[in-house]
Amino acid sequence: MSNTPPTPPVRVAVIGVGGIANQHLKALHKLDGVELAGLADVNEQGMHAKADEYEVDRANCYTDYQLMLEAVKPDAVSVCTPNGLHAPNSIAALEAGAHVIVEKPMAMNATEAKAMIDAAQRNDRKLVIGFQFRYDPKTAFVVAQHKAGLLGDIRFGRVWALRRRGIPNWGVFGRKDLQGGGPMIDIGVHALEMCHYAMGSPKPVAAVGMTDTYMGNSEEASKVACKWPNWDWESYTVEDLAVGHIRFENGAVIHIESSFAAHHEHASTTMDFQLMGTRGGVKWGSSELFTDLNGYMMNGKPAFMPKMEWHGYFDAKLGNFITHIRDDTPSNAPAHHGLMVQQMIDAVYRSADEGGNEVTID
Ligand SMILES: NC(=O)c1ccc[n+]([C@@H]2O[C@H](COP(=O)([O-])OP(=O)(O)OC[C@H]3O[C@@H](n4cnc5c(N)ncnc54)[C@H](O)[C@@H]3O)[C@@H](O)[C@H]2O)c1
Repeated sequence: MSNTPPTPPVRVAVIGVGGIANQHLKALHKLDGVELAGLADVNEQGMHAKADEYEVDRANCYTDYQLMLEAVKPDAVSVCTPNGLHAPNSIAALEAGAHVIVEKPMAMNATEAKAMIDAAQRNDRKLVIGFQFRYDPKTAFVVAQHKAGLLGDIRFGRVWALRRRGIPNWGVFGRKDLQGGGPMIDIGVHALEMCHYAMGSPKPVAAVGMTDTYMGNSEEASKVACKWPNWDWESYTVEDLAVGHIRFENGAVIHIESSFAAHHEHASTTMDFQLMGTRGGVKWGSSELFTDLNGYMMNGKPAFMPKMEWHGYFDAKLGNFITHIRDDTPSNAPAHHGLMVQQMIDAVYRSADEGGNEVTID
């Protein structure tokens, strides 16, 4: 018999137990060596329902997240609140000695993101961003081609995250004061961070942007038949459309289009990116590879591509977070990647506010 004491479980708390937290709770609940130690949400009834579903003691559920941190003293915290709370929640958790995984986007802006990184360093804790599409087999395919040199030097990334009519009719997604922006920071962030990651995370140096609001604040538009009608058009202060052009230190460029309300041909969300390099190109969504072979331009596709279900993303990202904090394995989505993504988004918004002039990223 071994005398080695059993490894204690990693005690994880969740702040903000709304829509996406369901996926975090489901993943954490079934992970070996993890105990769901506490919850915090201003909606007590909803929080108690989740506590019962995921076997969290109601005595460890608080409507005030500071009280929860003080009482529960979790080893780690998953932050699933609206964007405006990501920085204060994460910083409080880091100051309380917990490691943190925060949902995307990292924060409302790069200033907040930097303050979060400072808090992690000050407290010697780990900070991870919930960029789940890094775990998608399609992303792994793109990264593998790039690493093997099949794309050559990547010069251009084309990114889009477009909804025909997809303004969320729940939460606070139309509130700039609580979210930091609209489709660019909410859905564009997913496609942008994937593309940037697949390019090898180059340093962004400048951007040009435009934003426009022509539908989200219209009562008439909110009544058109769509998946999520009757959104809160009266409090809508974010953009409907954002277009950005981002330059990197290595001379590469990303062009991004992001919209909650784009008059284009697809009814459902289209999210994708494409890379164009000196030797080849690749398209994420279809896993197509474009290159020259023996004097011919070839389009290739893997004969088999594994598929990841929605919940698989959360199993993967929370699994990576737990092994990162427990076993010191590398994080797939470190905080400095989140900061660069935030700097790109900030710069697109800043340029749009300044009439579309190029702005620099420090
Ligand atoms: N990774 C993804 O694919 C994905 C998908 C959806 C949402 N998200 C992100 O997750 C975050 C939450 O989005 P959601 O759709 O779950 O929103 P939601 O509105 O469903 O949930 C937010 C929860 O936070 C709670 N909350 C609000 N203020 C609080 C406070 N002061 N203290 C504690 N709890 C508080 C709300 O009561 C609610 O339960 C957002 O940042 C969003 O961008 C990520």
